[in-house]
Amino acid sequence: MDFSEKELLGQIDAARLPRHVAIIMDGNGRWAKLRGFKDRTRGHRAGIEAVRAATRTAAQLHLAALTLYAFSEENWSRPKYEISLLMSLLKRFLKEEIPELMENNIRLVASGRIHRLPPDCLKQLEETKTITAGNTGLILNLALSYGGRAEITDALAAILEESEQGKIKPQDISEELVSRHLYQPGLPDPDLIIRTSGEYRTSNFLLWQGAYAEYYFTDVLWPDFNKTVFLQALLDFQKRERRFGGIG
Ligand code: FPP
Repeated sequence: MDFSEKELLGQIDAARLPRHVAIIMDGNGRWAKLRGFKDRTRGHRAGIEAVRAATRTAAQLHLAALTLYAFSEENWSRPKYEISLLMSLLKRFLKEEIPELMENNIRLVASGRIHRLPPDCLKQLEETKTITAGNTGLILNLALSYGGRAEITDALAAILEESEQGKIKPQDISEELVSRHLYQPGLPDPDLIIRTSGEYRTSNFLLWQGAYAEYYFTDVLWPDFNKTVFLQALLDFQKRERRFGGIG
């Protein structure tokens, strides 16, 4: 642990930490380009280390959940080579990370149209989910083939189906009912959403759940996102007054 990390950690108020942090991991391609790599996927490879660091920090601080936007529904339109590299990185990560997840009591879950993942990836995802299912610490939620609008659309379809089966009536429809039909109904809404790489967009991420989230934007490119940057985001969050539409 370097000096600045130690100092930042000392300033963290454990009573004012977010329960759920969600991160839009952006800037892998630019990171690779800046380093003179012709292949932008070098940035994705480097991004894995940042995924590990963020997960470790979230577990160490006893956050309830960390959601990482690893692959969006829109990302399927990227070149075939990039998609297949991302899928193989994901599969390897899901397998190699099991000991670390077990050691840190982390449960892995996923959000998204995961049936669209390649079968070998999906199989490894299910395996890692099953192996870590009994862990009671941090929930690591990977957003895979994820889109916020798709999630709401899928929830509507599920609600309609239950309605046709006579299980739900129009007067039962409430925000709480919609929340219960999202991909991970057990998770608290994100308190803090971080986006790297200096872009100021939500990019279809957690549209429903993020209604009252605090946003933190940093110019840091995802592969450079380390514990210090994470702690800076958390300290910034601690300074905010959250009013949820009230007057505080
Ligand atoms: C955005 O950067 C990043 C992604 C589309 C993928 C994120 C994936 C990883 C960090 C690695 C795999 C993750 C796991 C959990 C195994 P970009 O390519 O859009 O960057 P750019 O905007 O600079 O081009």
